[in-house]
Amino acid sequence: MGYTFTLLLALALLHIARGASVGQDSRIRYDNYSVYKIKYESLGQRNLLRQLAEDRNNFRLWHEAKDELHLMISPYGLPEFQAEVLKANVSAEIFIPNVQELIDVETDENSRASSDDFGWKKYNSLAEIEAWLDDILARYPVITEGFVLGTSYEGRTIRGLKISYKSGNPGVFIESNIHAREWITSATATWLINQFLTSEDPLVRTLAESHDWYIVPVLNVDGFVYTHEKDRMWRKTRQPSEISACVGVDPNRNYDSHWMENGGASSNPCAEDYGGPHAFSEPEIQAMSDFVGSIKEKLNVMLAFHSYSQLLLSPYGHTKEEYPENFDDLMEVAKAYGDAVEAFPYGTVYRYGSAAGILYPASGATNDWAYNEQGIEISYTIEFRDTGRYGFILPPAHIVPNAEEALIGITALLDKCKTLGYLELKYNL
Ligand code: ARG
Ligand code: ZN
Repeated sequence: MGYTFTLLLALALLHIARGASVGQDSRIRYDNYSVYKIKYESLGQRNLLRQLAEDRNNFRLWHEAKDELHLMISPYGLPEFQAEVLKANVSAEIFIPNVQELIDVETDENSRASSDDFGWKKYNSLAEIEAWLDDILARYPVITEGFVLGTSYEGRTIRGLKISYKSGNPGVFIESNIHAREWITSATATWLINQFLTSEDPLVRTLAESHDWYIVPVLNVDGFVYTHEKDRMWRKTRQPSEISACVGVDPNRNYDSHWMENGGASSNPCAEDYGGPHAFSEPEIQAMSDFVGSIKEKLNVMLAFHSYSQLLLSPYGHTKEEYPENFDDLMEVAKAYGDAVEAFPYGTVYRYGSAAGILYPASGATNDWAYNEQGIEISYTIEFRDTGRYGFILPPAHIVPNAEEALIGITALLDKCKTLGYLELKYNL
């Protein structure tokens, strides 16, 4: 009897440990989930730690760089984590003690501001963003034009906005929120749209009016809705797997450009960087490919918005043995962005380099595909604030400062592109 009870209790605890608990409103809760920064020196150490992250119930990968891993750990996973840290002989430092606490503060701030009109004091839902887009389209019918990228796995329309003040402008494409939990990206993209349409600052006017903007505020629509309604920490798409119970593909590993090469993505459907069963398996990414492919001669620049880490990443992602032919220019342009942002009042520091060079091999990402397969020679992944204090759950008070930095940075980036001759039209008017 006593033995059976203990066994049942153990089974019950095991059951709880299988996943984060579900709260009353059916949102997944992250009570006492912590996030650790782990520094390592050798590949062996990295692989030991990286192995942990494949167990998605207790460990989830937040960020990875050459010498550092950020892992979210469930309270049930802590003993195993501590054992692994000892075994691998690495140093681990906690930076978020309770993820749920940050989510609660964010939810609070979002609901307090929700009676306001659409604005940037809170994070908006997909429905709010789309209603706002409709409003913009109605108010600026001459300058703006809506476009449809395609349809998501769950059947949602993926929308974009084109802003063009005159013909003959070089084109800049902004892809945002391909990763569902990176809410600062769509908040920044929508803020930029608003600036391009309403700012009276002469510098912003020149920037807005001398480029054609193609902006997709939320590419991973299914994942984004899922982060609002169910799981704040979701990253991937929502298409189920045929070979696993784990759902979703990392859309930023799903482009057909050196797909799955050099360990640049995982073949495990449960991993955060699962590359998918084949390139372009995700309808959202196929849609991006079809649309961008159809206008590629109009595009001079591709910017893919991400968070977090404060980085500008150029091609290549699939290898650090080779570098793009215009790598020096890519670094000069990235430096212009970083310098401008650092000189701005907040003094925020961005680092830059090739993705594989300063992070780790990651293949099949937007900026690499745009560069390698679409001939877009200026192509970056931009990782916004912060460097880990809040990670993905960046408080709404950061939205406007982050977006201001993006505006300043993009202005400097495009100025430098122009000087270096990258904004010439690639087609005849
Ligand atoms: N954090 C981003 C991701 O994991 C960075 C990808 C950058 N890599 C690249 N090949 N562009 O998706
Ligand atoms: Zn991302």
